[in-house]
Amino acid sequence: MGELGFGRSFGTLQEARTSHVVHLVERGVRAINTIGNVPYVAHILRFLPSPIAAFEAWLTTALDWRLHKDRKKDDGLVPTDVFAYLLGEEGKQRRKLNRKELQQDCMLMVVAGSDTTSNAMTFCLFEMAHQPALLERVRREVEALLPDGGAELSESSFEALRDEAPLLNACIFEALRLWPPVPSGLQRTTTTDGMVLPGGMVVPHGTVVSTHTWTMHRDARNFYQPERFAPERWLSPTGAHNAKAWSPFGFGATSCIGKQLAYMEMRLVLALFVLRFDIAVAPAAAQAFRASVRDQFVIAAGALQVSLQRRRA
Ligand code: HEM
Repeated sequence: MGELGFGRSFGTLQEARTSHVVHLVERGVRAINTIGNVPYVAHILRFLPSPIAAFEAWLTTALDWRLHKDRKKDDGLVPTDVFAYLLGEEGKQRRKLNRKELQQDCMLMVVAGSDTTSNAMTFCLFEMAHQPALLERVRREVEALLPDGGAELSESSFEALRDEAPLLNACIFEALRLWPPVPSGLQRTTTTDGMVLPGGMVVPHGTVVSTHTWTMHRDARNFYQPERFAPERWLSPTGAHNAKAWSPFGFGATSCIGKQLAYMEMRLVLALFVLRFDIAVAPAAAQAFRASVRDQFVIAAGALQVSLQRRRA
């Protein structure tokens, strides 16, 4: 999200250890999750040191850097980042955003765009590593679409991965089902008319409600053998017998704005990954990884220990 959002890399992949920026984001998200579910806590927290102070300070630095960035200087990064639109640099803006709004957009972009997609890819690889035959089929599928191993990528490479890689896409859908990156879903407030549930129960107006994505996705009434990673369920029209219950990106006016971007990223990274590496995970490592999974607004898990073997240079 650094390059695309702010026009600069945050350098989180420079070293073979988790960058402090990632820890800041994680701690920030954990605190936001708690406050989001029990908002009155925010009134008490006002009198205590803010649990997201360090995260906010880092966001302020990132925002300041972007506000003072010289766009004319070619720094080799994306020519038009998301901030170009937020700041009206592209000339299409209904109203100028103030500093507080920009700071909140900074946070939203980093939180919404980073761990969601990276977790989805991690869980997809984790599941594929357990099924070598499936991994091989995905590899054959993408090999045909990227014969040079992805050395040269163009718009048509992205289109091919979207339209001509059904198994790769099915694996992504299935990983998003089994391990939804936002497991609890987001809250809504009922409108002035309230809400009548199918059984007739009335939820009064002004009530905060939410539908738990993880639970819907793992409910046998919606998906057969719900605990099993079975990408093939997405390859037949009746496979996922209640596809409407699949909602990793939410529903409605505030559903995920980054969905298509996330798909592009996931398809490309996973395709290149399986082309370049063989991946295996030992049972003990898999068990430790599963046990480490937590819901802290965005799904979180401990390190995934895998064995990687490079396939081509
Ligand atoms: C697999 C990846 C992703 C998943 C599963 C995901 C999921 C979600 C969910 C569940 C919501 C809340 C929807 C609701 O209110 O019902 C959301 C909102 C949002 N997402 Fe994503 N997201 C992903 C990737 C991204 C990316 C790459 C971006 C890029 C910037 C992004 C930006 C946003 C934004 C800005 C919102 C808030 C939209 C609003 O409130 O109007 N997301 N996402």
